[in-house]
Amino acid sequence: MTQLNTRLKDAAERVHNALDTLLPKAAGSEARLMDAMRYAALAGGKRLRPFFTLEAGRLFDADEGSLLRAAVAIECVHTYSLIHDDLPCMDDDDLRRGRPTLHRAFDEATALLAGDALLTFAFELLADPATHPDPQMRCLLITALAKAGGAAGMVAGQVADMAGQEIGSDLIAVTRMNRLKTGALINYSIEAGALIGCASDAERTALTRYAHDIGLAFQMVDDLLDAEGVVRDTGKAVGKDKARGKVNFVTVMGADATRDRVAMLASQAKQHLAIFGPRARVLSDAVDFVVERRF
Ligand code: IPE
Ligand code: IPE
Ligand code: MG
Ligand code: MG
Ligand code: MG
Repeated sequence: MTQLNTRLKDAAERVHNALDTLLPKAAGSEARLMDAMRYAALAGGKRLRPFFTLEAGRLFDADEGSLLRAAVAIECVHTYSLIHDDLPCMDDDDLRRGRPTLHRAFDEATALLAGDALLTFAFELLADPATHPDPQMRCLLITALAKAGGAAGMVAGQVADMAGQEIGSDLIAVTRMNRLKTGALINYSIEAGALIGCASDAERTALTRYAHDIGLAFQMVDDLLDAEGVVRDTGKAVGKDKARGKVNFVTVMGADATRDRVAMLASQAKQHLAIFGPRARVLSDAVDFVVERRF
């Protein structure tokens, strides 16, 4: 197994175990809500955002416990975003991570509320002194996540996605949409590692540029997988973006031009890591994983 594969597997296991420990246990009158939160959060997934936090922090020998709690918070926000993204009022999807979507397995109101609860739980986790002894650091982590996930970040991107036809074939608008709906949270996952690791300005700038390129490439690959992937691999429906009239890179530029852009972004992303030398080997290899993934 390559070092990257070992680290991806290790990150996924640690995040799964931490989620299992930290999420409220199903009991009492809210048992159904807790069950729903656990159903969505413990369903697997690549856990790529947590991996980025752990790896970015590792560059600076940051405290593993702090990194893991931040990584779990990010995965909670990501999971909430998927639950809401799948709702009938948004993408109306039935399959996620190889299982029925939350509103299918439970019901719409429970899915909506479990998403809300996962979002707020993320901030509860970050605010807890167990995440970091310095309250100023906790505030920085909280503020940056609020910005990345909110009306100037992921939510803004989802709004643009839902207004797809208005974007038309404007590549700048499509790029902005992707940067927001997916890039913002990926950006935060790397930023959190840099923050906890007390990275220098130059190191933070390099990581921000890396995050920018890999975040955009990630959503382009997601769009390619929707157009060309298979359900057996992706664990979610394919071919739905075009069928629903969604606007994305593939529907606007075609698959080949999208692949060219992904390759360019991948090469740029790796170059931004030069400042770290061989220490950033795993983050560099992660670019290939993002580009070549089939799921
Ligand atoms: C899917 O994200 C939604 C997007 C932002 C493209 P992932 O591809 O990271 O989904 P999981 O977490 O691995 O299921
Ligand atoms: C979702 O983008 C981005 C989110 C913020 C959840 P998509 O709608 O393309 O994600 P999938 O393809 O359903 O995973
Ligand atoms: Mg969507
Ligand atoms: Mg979707
Ligand atoms: Mg998609």
